[in-house]
Amino acid sequence: MNFPIIAPSVLSADFANLGTDIQMINDSQADWFHIDVMDGVFVTNISFGFPVIKAIQKIANKPLDVHLMIVQPEKYIKDFKSVGAEVLSVHYEACTHLHRTIYAIKEEGMKAGVAINPHTPIHLLKDIIQDIDLVCMMSVNPGFGGQKFIEQTYRKCADLKAMIEANNAHCLIEIDGGVNEFTAPKLLEAGADVLVAGNYVFASNNPKETIASLKNLSLHTK
Ligand code: DX5
Ligand code: ZN
Repeated sequence: MNFPIIAPSVLSADFANLGTDIQMINDSQADWFHIDVMDGVFVTNISFGFPVIKAIQKIANKPLDVHLMIVQPEKYIKDFKSVGAEVLSVHYEACTHLHRTIYAIKEEGMKAGVAINPHTPIHLLKDIIQDIDLVCMMSVNPGFGGQKFIEQTYRKCADLKAMIEANNAHCLIEIDGGVNEFTAPKLLEAGADVLVAGNYVFASNNPKETIASLKNLSLHTK
């Protein structure tokens, strides 16, 4: 796998022309589709659900990385598998029985991710770090695209990288929110593996070139 993994966030796509935007990502150097699911309870926004994800999956030629910003995500694990999720992330703050939920995701054959809000310290992941495939570190408060990047994420990302190495774990660090040409290089330096980008990609004049510029920031293999 070539790093960084680039995951454009479909939340910032043009929903009236979703097929065109999915095709653009297919034809780009992006690696994954980042799919944000919001329920209006865990976050104060509602995005889209199963029918839309299923429609995306029909034409997408890259893995769907699904980020659940919903309460009780354990209720819907099989449903997200059935609409094509390959990576499924649940929020630490939304799961009382996180370990059980992680293993339920893995049992369905998906990669299991844990997303953490900006205020959630990484040390809370210590006893689960070896069980998960990905940490989705929020670098904005979840709910909306196009928000300002929270600067302490660099330090948090470096700390998480150190924790992963100290525990001989293998999970990827995904950064979600406010990724752009200024924040991305510093995030890679701090140990990020996966960059989610919504507004930066879709508000640019040439989204395919913007994706390529992120992909080519630093290439290493794992
Ligand atoms: C925010 C979502 C993000 C969002 C990122 O709650 O989880 O994935 O789409 O958008 P940008 O890159 O515009 O900050
Ligand atoms: Zn997201």
